[in-house]
Amino acid sequence: DRLVVLISGRGSNLQAIQDACARGQIPGRIVGVISNRPEAAGLEIARRAGLTTQVVDHRLFSSREDFEIALSEAIAKWSSDWIVLAGFMRAFTPGFVDRHRGRLVNIHPSLLPAFTGLHTHRRALQAGVCWHGATVHFVTAELDGGPIIAQAAVPVAPEDDEATLAGKVLAAEHRLYPQALAWLCRGQLVLDGESLRWREFPPM
Ligand code: GRF
Repeated sequence: DRLVVLISGRGSNLQAIQDACARGQIPGRIVGVISNRPEAAGLEIARRAGLTTQVVDHRLFSSREDFEIALSEAIAKWSSDWIVLAGFMRAFTPGFVDRHRGRLVNIHPSLLPAFTGLHTHRRALQAGVCWHGATVHFVTAELDGGPIIAQAAVPVAPEDDEATLAGKVLAAEHRLYPQALAWLCRGQLVLDGESLRWREFPPM
């Protein structure tokens, strides 16, 4: 399968996905990387891996719709099977989400439906949860609300602060996202209406 990865920043998940493609864990390859920020460090990671990159700077567009038209054109050029959001920090309009429905996936740094939105690690610590983690999900019009594909939990230790907890969750993300993308590329699950349909459930 063909993957387009959308980033806004550091790009460590992009790196994990690229590594998983290279070692054959994901039966697919990254055909393009798009950043909405020209200064994203992840662009350098992509270039070093020999991947094709493009910047679609949201600040150059007067409306969200115009930005998304440019983004859709960039994506269409690579005729990808999957649009993989990896630290992409822009919310989409329902129109964009509908156009790419079932092919658009995201990773979020919490055990959804807990802690949608930003600052998830800080909020998890404030809430005093014992377990935190990450979620890969299909993107629907509801922010961080689409059907859940996979989750990884990490225990919260009494001595954890925001930084140590973020590190643990990120390490879990780097295992989780490649696994979920491997299932998707192998056609083991699809988005069917509002919910997931497994064709071949992975062994527990
Ligand atoms: C990750 O924590 C991801 O869950 C969130 O943004 C962060 C991206 O990190 N959506 P990176 O750019 O992949 O290093």
